[in-house]
Amino acid sequence: MPTNLEGKHITLGVTGSIACYKAIDLASKLTQAKANVDVALTRGAENFVSPLAFAAITHRPVVTDVFDPQSELSIDHVALAERSDVIVVVPATAHTIAKMAQGLADDVLTTTLLATQAPVIVAPAMDAHMFDHPATQANVKMLVERGVTFAGPASGRLASGLIGKGRLVEAPELLGVIRTTLGRDGDLAGRKIVVSAGGTEEAIDPVRVITNHSSGKMGYAIAEAARDRGASAVLVSTPTALPAPHGVRMVKVRSALDMRDAINHECQDADAVVMAAAVADWRPVSAADQKIKKGASNEWSIELTKTPDIIAGLIGDSLVKVGFAAESQDLIANAQSKLVSKGLDLIIANDITAVDAGFATDTNRVTILDREGGSDDLPLMSKYDVGVNILDRVKPLFRREKL
Ligand SMILES: Cc1cc2nc3c(=O)[nH]c(=O)nc-3n(C[C@H](O)[C@H](O)[C@H](O)COP(=O)(O)O)c2cc1C
Repeated sequence: MPTNLEGKHITLGVTGSIACYKAIDLASKLTQAKANVDVALTRGAENFVSPLAFAAITHRPVVTDVFDPQSELSIDHVALAERSDVIVVVPATAHTIAKMAQGLADDVLTTTLLATQAPVIVAPAMDAHMFDHPATQANVKMLVERGVTFAGPASGRLASGLIGKGRLVEAPELLGVIRTTLGRDGDLAGRKIVVSAGGTEEAIDPVRVITNHSSGKMGYAIAEAARDRGASAVLVSTPTALPAPHGVRMVKVRSALDMRDAINHECQDADAVVMAAAVADWRPVSAADQKIKKGASNEWSIELTKTPDIIAGLIGDSLVKVGFAAESQDLIANAQSKLVSKGLDLIIANDITAVDAGFATDTNRVTILDREGGSDDLPLMSKYDVGVNILDRVKPLFRREKL
């Protein structure tokens, strides 16, 4: 799946921690995402992992020594520093963090870190006592003040046997931090984009709900695509099985009414809203306070009332409004009439009967309709790419001044 990692020069600085092996997995994921991954290993790291393991995965030379005549750094010792779009120290030892804080440059990694203008991300991994030590804490604080981004450490069971703070963050979290950092100055920087996701839950009683099969994947992918381009992305989501994307502000809701309130609130200062959630059209008139008993009757009916149309109810001319029309028949005609009746700028029509598109899949095939009668049939693509296409069409429609 192409993301904003594609084509980027990412340098991984790997230092002497037991968590070094996890950097191999990260290098693999970044390479699969089509990033150009350079790896700089410290002497300490070479005790845990071999340069060959990284070279085999990244298909690029690995640097361990500035003075190695075989390395390009022996000719141009700041080559990596200048080439990098971002440098990630992963795992970062207490020792290397201390050297960074002091501005030392006694190996290939710290020399590169001192010479670079690129953003720097540090993912510490160490024993909890090492992390808690006042020296480490002071070094972390100093680096944060200088603009270094820290990813973790996480809490949990450590290699030393201690339970505490010091674990390397997991790869998906770190990938989110890298993507957020790379996107910071993207073409949507200064824009607030609100996205809704998931299927709403309409309570019948304390244990039962009326819901639908929406997985939330489409909305999450749009929010990630917005974040990757520098937008301040807000995801108004019902409970889903998906992890909260790093760098996206989550607003958790359950029912259509909760979602309406959250969307109304978030849209007050937003540039665009994309309603990818599957909001119930109907909800029980009232939810019982206690669990409804099975009883003797073979029939049970629930009285339903219509839920409010969230996007149609949004007031304000400056907001760009994008709706979704998930249809199982007369797709385009139904979508076009929704576009007009709800006062939308764009509507994304998708056929939920297709097996490779719609609910729960990682791909989608959509048609984007606009107010001028334009219609754009997109081929089957990842939901992330659908998000990129939607945002490309939202961008020229912004009506608010940029923040
Ligand atoms: C088995 C073993 C595991 C280690 N794990 C860590 C660790 O997770 N974090 C850390 O800060 N230091 C750890 N150390 C200590 C560092 O390797 C040591 O401080 C070294 O000087 C770090 O150098 P570097 O930062 O240049 O790689 C470990 C040492 C050993 C022997």
